[in-house]
Amino acid sequence: MDQYIIKGGKPLVGEVQIGGYKNAALGIIAAAIMADDTVLIENIPAVKDIDILLKAIEDIGAKVERINKHAVKINGSSINSVNVDFDYVRKIRGSYYLVGALLGKYRQANVALPGGCNIGSRPIDQHIKGFEALNAKVKIEHGLIKAQSENLKGAHIYFDGNSVGATINTMLAACLAEGTTILENSAKEPHVVDVANFLNSMGANIKGAGTDVIRIKGVPKLHGSEYVVIPDQIEAGTFMFAAAATNGDVLIKNVIPKHLEAFTAKLLEIGAVVEEFDDAIRVKAGGRLGSTHVKTLVYPGFLTDMQPQMTTLLSVSKGTSIVTESIFENRFKYVDELSRMGASIKVESNTAFIDGVDKLTGAVVSAPDLRGGAALVIAGLMAEGFTIVENVEYIERGYESFEYKMQQLGAVMEKVDSNDTKAIRKFKYKVG
Ligand code: EPZ
Repeated sequence: MDQYIIKGGKPLVGEVQIGGYKNAALGIIAAAIMADDTVLIENIPAVKDIDILLKAIEDIGAKVERINKHAVKINGSSINSVNVDFDYVRKIRGSYYLVGALLGKYRQANVALPGGCNIGSRPIDQHIKGFEALNAKVKIEHGLIKAQSENLKGAHIYFDGNSVGATINTMLAACLAEGTTILENSAKEPHVVDVANFLNSMGANIKGAGTDVIRIKGVPKLHGSEYVVIPDQIEAGTFMFAAAATNGDVLIKNVIPKHLEAFTAKLLEIGAVVEEFDDAIRVKAGGRLGSTHVKTLVYPGFLTDMQPQMTTLLSVSKGTSIVTESIFENRFKYVDELSRMGASIKVESNTAFIDGVDKLTGAVVSAPDLRGGAALVIAGLMAEGFTIVENVEYIERGYESFEYKMQQLGAVMEKVDSNDTKAIRKFKYKVG
């Protein structure tokens, strides 16, 4: 087990390059197996969730050729099974996109129920609603989602809520269904648009992605394509907040500033300086920031995946802030860890009331999930003294070379084996 050891108190300064969007790449990799030609996908992030999904498609027979760390060629013509029931697949969320992809292409899919971060109950009823409306029979049996259809037909579907997963999954299957599908009350997130653009580059006919009505005309087959995944708005947002939290000055490169507007607005509101360029954004701060109220919402609202980083930043801001989580009911687990570092936060139901303290102090804390873990790293960078963040494997599921990118910005942190007490002593001795 690895852990990060961090000596806080140093502003982050310099430039950082943002990678491809993990949550878009997961949908795109699943979509890639729907063609029988070779597909080249570039700008995939080198993170654990992506490795797991690539291994899963390889294990059902797809050809996966790694061109380099960030590019892969996939050929789905050799798929010989629609059963995706591997232990490792249950650990990630994105594996559920294989249901839509396999159902669309082979009219049948048996996929292990997805896992992913424990941030709430995470039902899949809207995915099932989508598949059933397309004339598939779906059942949950022995831990598997089993879907099949003799005759997949387009339909008019009105989702009960804006679900990224259900929108992408239904869109995947509908691409190869007979006739037209209309998805209403769809999710509008950038990764929905990216997966739709990718499918269109393979010959699908999808219009309206990015609005709440998506129209899909089914086509008989998809063909090969070359595609570049969009930049990761959450990785970018995390560095934006880390820059502001440490009173730093960071130029965050390879981003789409439009996707970051909700974060930019909040940073400006609490007194940070944000400068936008065509494909970069610069964040700086000097002195203590102010308080605000934040509510997580669907895009273009404030993203739930940035809620822990925002709360952490506000834990040392002047005054009282309120953060309301409206997407997942259990996304404040990291708050107990922040409290060990001296934060004063009270969580009632889905709302955190934050009394900004003058400073955090280093402590041993444990990452409860991916974004909560990243937030604890930000806390460690702000805190006085040494912080140890345990369970970094959560963070590595979604952030590529996190400690390296932080180190390049001047962060005093290292990844060490938790059993290696010598390494911890050595780090403390080295950095004083
Ligand atoms: C995606 O999860 C992301 N994961 C999450 O990122 C992200 O937090 C979330 O979208 C919201 O933006 C991936 O893309 C792999 P949803 P997903 O379906 O698709 C409810 C991260 O840290 N709902 O948009 O699972 C659900 O309970 C991860 O990178 C239903 O009720 O989220 C939630 O309240 C964590 N029924 C809301 O909708 C359903 O069938 C939004 O969920 C589906 C969802």
